[in-house]
Amino acid sequence: MAAPNNETGEEETTGHEWDGIRELNNPLPRWWLIIFYATIVWAVVYWIFMPAWPGITGYTKGLRNHSERENVAVALQQLESSRVEFAQRLLAAPSLRAIESDPDLLQYARAAGESLFGDNCATCHGVGGQGFVGYPNLVDDEWIWGGTLDDIQTTLRVGRRSDHPETTYTEMLAYGQDGLLTPAEVNDLTDYVLSLSGQLHDPEARARAEEVYQTQCVSCHGVDGTGDREQGAPNLTDAIWLYGGERSAIWETLWYGRAGVMPSFEGRLSEDQIAALAVYVHTLGGGED
Ligand code: HEC
Ligand code: HEC
Repeated sequence: MAAPNNETGEEETTGHEWDGIRELNNPLPRWWLIIFYATIVWAVVYWIFMPAWPGITGYTKGLRNHSERENVAVALQQLESSRVEFAQRLLAAPSLRAIESDPDLLQYARAAGESLFGDNCATCHGVGGQGFVGYPNLVDDEWIWGGTLDDIQTTLRVGRRSDHPETTYTEMLAYGQDGLLTPAEVNDLTDYVLSLSGQLHDPEARARAEEVYQTQCVSCHGVDGTGDREQGAPNLTDAIWLYGGERSAIWETLWYGRAGVMPSFEGRLSEDQIAALAVYVHTLGGGED
């Protein structure tokens, strides 16, 4: 039962009564009413100043003519123009080296390069550039085609064994499959290659292969097996392998040949994007001077 709340001490009712239940008429608390009227005033002010009422073809714009969509458009335009400004600065840089020595530009190039790498390169080279069998690691300091800024830019621009007219085309022939060497020679050469990187091998087989190696392989891999970047012939003396350094992988390379394709990005990416990517890859860890 509610407490009496008028001067006479009686409860005020609306006069409605159902089966002995009376409808009371208590005034609303003052604080509640103040907030209630304030919200009405606020709504009217809001209608006047801000976009509020939908119409058939548009909506009331309000005195402030505020538009979230326009704000987004303006912000995007600002972003785009800063991007254009950086792109122009990348292109205007006298050399890729100059990009790396300007901290602002370097930061931009690395950020842009990282995002481009994710979109264009990670499927083949891995998200961090760590590579897979047949797809070189770009983080280490072993390079098939060269690790200077210019080398990397050239690789990106014209590709390797790609369809670009200026691309380099050399391949590791299928010595076994194409009958250039006998199966026994291929087996012996496998031991020879194992010996180049100091792995376990049969010394007699190695000795038998010496002459074949010197006649067949040195033009690309060099007398000592350290490779030739001009021809993309990998160094065979270290522990880093594109196709695997164990006996079976080396045998497969010699038998079936290898010709990995690095696609050309000229035309697919703009010049400033290629520059940003070259800087990004160069600063991943293994960049050469
Ligand atoms: C379709 C797969 C593929 C894509 C995509 C690709 N690459 Fe390659 N990339 C290769 C292969 C395969 C090679 C090795 C070619 C060879 O066997 O000599 C290579 C080689 C390279 C090399 C030379 C490495 C060295 O040791 O000299 C660089 C640098 C390189 N890629 C960077 C990139 C960048 C940056 C992108 C993205 C713009 C990219 N690649 C996209 C497959 C790809
Ligand atoms: C015409 C040049 C050329 C000649 C000659 C040549 N190679 Fe190669 N070799 C290459 C190239 C180029 C590659 C890398 C192919 C690729 O990147 O897809 C390669 C790759 C290899 C690899 C794989 C290296 C790795 O990291 O996985 C081995 C092993 C190899 N060659 C051994 C030999 C042997 C042994 C001979 C001699 C019978 C020989 N090559 C002759 C060009 C040549």
